[in-house]
Amino acid sequence: MVKNRKPIIAGNWKMYKTATEAVAFVRNLELSVAGMDDVEVVVCPPFNALVPVVEALRGSRIAVGAQNVHWEDQGAFTGEISPGMLKDAGCRYVIIGHSERRQFFGETDVNVNRKVKAVLQHGLTPVMCVGELIEERESGITEKVVRAQTEAGLAGLTAGQVAGMVIAYEPVWAIGTGKTASDADAQQVIGYIRGLVNQLFGGEVAAQVCIQYGGSVKPQNTASLMAQPDIDGALVGGASLDVESFTGIIKAAAGN
Ligand code: 13P
Repeated sequence: MVKNRKPIIAGNWKMYKTATEAVAFVRNLELSVAGMDDVEVVVCPPFNALVPVVEALRGSRIAVGAQNVHWEDQGAFTGEISPGMLKDAGCRYVIIGHSERRQFFGETDVNVNRKVKAVLQHGLTPVMCVGELIEERESGITEKVVRAQTEAGLAGLTAGQVAGMVIAYEPVWAIGTGKTASDADAQQVIGYIRGLVNQLFGGEVAAQVCIQYGGSVKPQNTASLMAQPDIDGALVGGASLDVESFTGIIKAAAGN
């Protein structure tokens, strides 16, 4: 099946790499992915490296994203960063509601929704993460959990806004564990999310929205995940920290 959505492969570096390491990495990555133009490539370094990485990638087609944001434009919010600041730094994407933020930093669906709206108002693309815990999967409530997160995160958005955004389905039990969801399981939940977008915003939006899979994506499992009809790319953690493995993933995605 030929998909008309361009796959987006995004590297979420989490709290890894100094600015110096990040710049060296993207210089190598740029050479390594030359010609793989059928895939949108995004790197999401920690905040300290955003500006140096944007500078190093000037003129390149590799985009830069942030890993978190506050919803206010400015204010007395110690330790936070605003959408306008990320825009000014040269970011194009922002990861919102990653499960590590939900688990360790108290991120709620309400705040995810505030952040998604704020980022869109600044012309940035949100990568909104949803996904169930292992206990939730085992008790058969994966769809219920993903539905609640998706509905809350997209509340109050226009159809046009949703059409241009990215949703990342990351089952929490697959993150950093080496346990990838099977192609069929990932497709089943991502197809469900697309169906939900269809119900909420209509068929045209559902056909356009990019929905990624994330959780132990590696060069070896990328092609079969990307061959699924509803999977439009990947949000990659560990394997995005190494030029060779991240390139392998991009190459495998380019083949679909
Ligand atoms: P891993 O690829 O290391 O499992 O991490 C996935 C992830 O959390 C990407 O946001």
